[in-house]
Amino acid sequence: MNVNKYNIKEKGFVDIKIDNELNINDEIDKLRKRKNAIILAHFYQNSEIQDIADFVGDSLALSQQATKTNCDIIVFAGVHFMAETAKILSPEKKVLLPDLNAGCSLAESCPANEFAKFLKKFPDHTVISYINTTKEIKALTDITCTSSNVLKIIESLPSDEKILFAPDKNLGNYVKSKTGREMVIWDGACHVHEQFSLEKTLKIKEEHPQAKIIAHPECEKQVLLVADHIGSTSSLLKYTIEDNSKEYIVATESGIIHQMKKNNPGKIFFIAPPKDSTYGCNDCNFMKLITIEKIYNTLKYEIPEIKIDEKLRKRAERSIIKMLKISEELGL
Ligand code: 13P
Ligand code: SF4
Repeated sequence: MNVNKYNIKEKGFVDIKIDNELNINDEIDKLRKRKNAIILAHFYQNSEIQDIADFVGDSLALSQQATKTNCDIIVFAGVHFMAETAKILSPEKKVLLPDLNAGCSLAESCPANEFAKFLKKFPDHTVISYINTTKEIKALTDITCTSSNVLKIIESLPSDEKILFAPDKNLGNYVKSKTGREMVIWDGACHVHEQFSLEKTLKIKEEHPQAKIIAHPECEKQVLLVADHIGSTSSLLKYTIEDNSKEYIVATESGIIHQMKKNNPGKIFFIAPPKDSTYGCNDCNFMKLITIEKIYNTLKYEIPEIKIDEKLRKRAERSIIKMLKISEELGL
């Protein structure tokens, strides 16, 4: 494949117009069968992408899935660090990301050179990093974690172990308050989860007093303090299925509402409003760069592909394997 021909370096995706007559879902189906490919999608993807995916899940489930599948190609409908994690875990597979511009503000808030300098100040600390990081950060990390397993991973460490947590300060402070553990925390955050307005959320609660507030731990402390349930995307979804309320105010990216509605016909979901509705919204602009058309082109032309230098891959892999091993032992 002539990558230059499609200008991938400049554009980050295959920019070829698709014939309007084409039934794109059928074509994607044919291509994935012919090429032994699977589409893994995060809960924050657009609903039509979630509906055509072979597997939809949170970051932990998606990384577990990447190790289980015996396909030849993984098309990742998510953001860059997720596709990168799949490639680190399955180097023999071709991992494709439909748009290389699908980054993550949280991962970007922790540049590897600055982080390496920061670590030098805390040489005797165990480094726990959230999966929303680059491969370079994972290579500097002892154990990777996700919002699904972070509490259990921290609790599995001896109580006198010194911990350095990166990159999300909101998640870090939440973990600190739940476990009572002292931790050095990197000052990073996600621009979507920092947007939720406590005031506007409480206004909805006032109008719908029966509604439960559910929040992702990347949200700011003041939002977490009023939440009835805090958890990863899969934990929030599970809560709406098992809990018997009829209404929920959801403080996380809006893509998850699709699964919540699908699994809970009849229940009502309000999206927690952003502080500044002129500029803010609850869509992750990076997640939403992935479209059905880009997935089709990616499957067809097999680009853009995630490639990782083998030495770096091996160093990054160690911290993810540790996470998967602990998660398996804990039945997560
Ligand atoms: P989950 O681990 O809950 O899927 O969260 C991923 C993420 O990007 C949150 O912003
Ligand atoms: Fe990254 Fe935030 Fe988007 Fe999640 S929602 S992928 S943390 S920018």
